Amino acid sequence: MKLTIDGIPFETDKDITILEACESIGIEIPTLCNDPRLIPFTSCFLCVVEVEGAKGSVPACATKVREGMVVKTNTQNINETRRLCMELLLSDHAGDCIAPCRFNCPAGIDIQSYVAHVANRDYKSAIKTIKDTNPLPLVCGRVCPKPCEDVCRRGLMEGPVAIDNIKRFVSDEDLKEPFIPEVKPATGKRIAIVGAGPAGLSCAYYLKIEGYDVEIFEKSDRPGGMLLWGIPEYRLPKSLLAKEIEIITRMGVKIHFNKTLGKDFSIKDLKERYDAVFLAIGAQKSTAMRVKNEDAKGVFGGIDFLYTVAKGNKIDIGKGVVVVGGGNTAIDAARTAVRLGAGNVTIVYRRTRDEMPAEDIEIEEAGHEGAIFKFLRAPTEILTQDGKVTGIKCQVMGLGEADSSGRRRPVPVDGEFETIEADTIIAAIGQYVDPSGLDVPVDGTNGISLTKYNTISANVDERTFQTNIPGIFAGGDAVTGPSIAISAIAHGRYGALSIHSWLSDQPLVKDFRSAFNFSLGQKLTEVDKNYIPHAPKQEREKSGSLPIKERLDNFNEVDFTYSEEQAVREAKRCLSCGCLDADECKLRLYAERFKINVNRIRGGIREQHIDSSSKYLVFDSTKCIKCGKCIRVCSDLKAIGALGFAGRGFETDMLPSMEKSLIETSCVECGSCESVCPSGAILDKSLVLEKIAQFKTEVKPSICRECSIGCEIFTVLYEDKIIRVIPKNRGTVYESMLCKTGRYESMMDIEKSQAFDFSQYEKMKLYDASIRDIKTAISSSEVIINWGVDIFNFYAPVSYHLKKYLDKNSDAALSTYFYFKIDFDIFGFNNYPINRVKSQSETIMDKGLLQVIESGKRILIILEETSLSKTEIEYFMNLKEKGNIKILNLVRRKNF
Ligand code: SF4
Ligand code: SF4
Ligand code: SF4
Ligand code: SF4
Ligand code: FES
Repeated sequence: MKLTIDGIPFETDKDITILEACESIGIEIPTLCNDPRLIPFTSCFLCVVEVEGAKGSVPACATKVREGMVVKTNTQNINETRRLCMELLLSDHAGDCIAPCRFNCPAGIDIQSYVAHVANRDYKSAIKTIKDTNPLPLVCGRVCPKPCEDVCRRGLMEGPVAIDNIKRFVSDEDLKEPFIPEVKPATGKRIAIVGAGPAGLSCAYYLKIEGYDVEIFEKSDRPGGMLLWGIPEYRLPKSLLAKEIEIITRMGVKIHFNKTLGKDFSIKDLKERYDAVFLAIGAQKSTAMRVKNEDAKGVFGGIDFLYTVAKGNKIDIGKGVVVVGGGNTAIDAARTAVRLGAGNVTIVYRRTRDEMPAEDIEIEEAGHEGAIFKFLRAPTEILTQDGKVTGIKCQVMGLGEADSSGRRRPVPVDGEFETIEADTIIAAIGQYVDPSGLDVPVDGTNGISLTKYNTISANVDERTFQTNIPGIFAGGDAVTGPSIAISAIAHGRYGALSIHSWLSDQPLVKDFRSAFNFSLGQKLTEVDKNYIPHAPKQEREKSGSLPIKERLDNFNEVDFTYSEEQAVREAKRCLSCGCLDADECKLRLYAERFKINVNRIRGGIREQHIDSSSKYLVFDSTKCIKCGKCIRVCSDLKAIGALGFAGRGFETDMLPSMEKSLIETSCVECGSCESVCPSGAILDKSLVLEKIAQFKTEVKPSICRECSIGCEIFTVLYEDKIIRVIPKNRGTVYESMLCKTGRYESMMDIEKSQAFDFSQYEKMKLYDASIRDIKTAISSSEVIINWGVDIFNFYAPVSYHLKKYLDKNSDAALSTYFYFKIDFDIFGFNNYPINRVKSQSETIMDKGLLQVIESGKRILIILEETSLSKTEIEYFMNLKEKGNIKILNLVRRKNF
């Protein structure tokens, strides 16, 4: 049979489908409902192709090749059809591919994972996860306005998860024995960073990890930037900030203090001396109110006031203080003024409480500490006597139409004014970038280009953070204007990624947000609470704070860190919103590939049926695309038939048969349905850990040790813990069909067995042997010594693979000597030279054996550790030093 596929001649004498033909010549066709082991079902229609002469497109999975066929697999029409099919499949879908908290965090911290680690009491993993994207969690745990919590799905129940308090707990724990990331070998390239604030420090941290030589130039005498000078001690103790920054300097980042751009060095100098430059100069100048007498004695800019206090300089504020502004700096200034002894502190804001950009909790605390709010007041004049402040005159405002920010515009009420007496006026209405030193000509330019807002112009949209001068990058407040710390921290990291990509000629790492992400709603108000993951009611943990009367005359930290028990309890409130299938989901993969628009034909979300009756599996109908693979695998391959369809058309649902719960059906919990499901509709439950999330895992080939078949499996490892077992060749015609024991129970047994004290064996580097280790070790040994009670009985896969190897390599078999402790031969080893050490030889320290072991031959010892005494362990530890001896350890299951 001869045909052409995409213009390529193809010949076959087999009765195959177009899909199989395409696969055989490396043309990939997308499929969701196809399984090579099953009769085609044609429900997804993603595999459509064009066949010359045929009406419309045909499903490649169900159409057999024919003589003379002309097949096209990648035309515009086909792609349009596939896109439409994907939109249909997702038209009634529900779920969050990525947890919304992570999505809303400017740094994209994998919140769901670190919270899960805390729920599992694994604080080291939690801090590592946080530091993947944020090197200053201790700071953020105290000062972040928590955009993540604004979208936390638990907010639709008793209140959002206290994400930031959990982070604060973890980073405080970390200070006891800080996690210092591994630094890659030196690249030999040097980077200059201007500014040791959050953006500069973050950029330095991630560049250092990549092996760059990083130097920061800081204009003040200490690191921290706005974190140090702009955030009062009672919110972020300076000693703690210093400890967190010290971790970065311990990694090898150098900071040069008292070095000012434009005075001590220029961007031209840096450009010439370094391979790349990152400008993180912040926005540290206070914006003026532009009212009469603003230069009077007793008027301060918000940030200048906080800086003076942070510096420890004396400042006489008198008794009456008026703070102008509605942001966090205004609140910080007001609460600081209270602590400096001002009797009357008034916050004047030109809009209302609802429009105040400061955090709610900060506003409340300022009120508790005695600050008075005057809303809808805009300053018009500073009142003075002899050049010294005596008060402030304000225009009374009303609210007009909404402006571009969506907030109602304040409009003056004709002729209405209010005067407030004061000794000090603090204008905390904004900050701007000091452009000094940016206008030095470099490489034929007139210096760094600025935006119309006088911020540095850097390519934020494409996340290169490159300025108009190649090799000079910028980020943080200097680019955005005054913003929150986590945004500057994020810029620092993105800047580092971009600099690394620019210097190493590697593509820029894509942000997870640029992939396809299904969402229940970007804002909490858009989310239908019926579709958030179910959980029993549990109130948010309250964090303690200093009583008001103990705060007013000092700068002691106000809020307390959660206790361990509180942090763990709070972490358990997390609903694990991010789909656990996000990295494997084919639906998401194709939605991304075909750039689908989920809203184009979005219908109502389907009714949700969650079946979690099985100990091992959970079914969620809202993520099901009705491909029928699970049903067919269960009935046609496993001959069980525990699943079926119910309903018709759009209302059709995949359900356990007879609409019972899964546990009541004939299901044997083999997990085969999970392994074929293309979406997150069927998932393994977390058996080993209290909570799992989208952890970074490692997948290793291994072998099931539960019976003599020795199925090849893949273990999914998280930090040396097997958290999941999946069959080899998943979803292909060669997939190993695991049983419940291999798929789920082995995992639990391994976990239990790890309860033994293996510290001695760890030192010997004796690990659970994978089949690959076994084959390699066997093939390089002349003598195989097996030790332990009935090892080959209980570790049948070893026997099985050893025998398979020997059968194929008869030369090796005949020239290899085996010492088996007991007379055991169900696999027929008697065909090979065997020296049985009968059971009267009580120990492996038997003289004859020791002679063999020490003979200098290449030796493989397969042992089962629980049969060894301490002396024997020590003996083997010494033997390990000799290169000719390889020891494989078989972890023995506890229940044998
Ligand atoms: S099933 Fe796939 S598309 Fe749906 S939420 Fe999960 S990962 Fe996203
Ligand atoms: S419940 Fe957990 S995963 Fe979901 S948004 Fe809140 S913190 Fe994130
Ligand atoms: S776990 Fe196995 S037996 Fe149970 S429904 Fe899935 S495929 Fe069928
Ligand atoms: S649950 Fe079954 S029918 Fe639904 S998507 Fe998964 S495999 Fe297909
Ligand atoms: S219709 Fe062919 S793979 Fe779904």
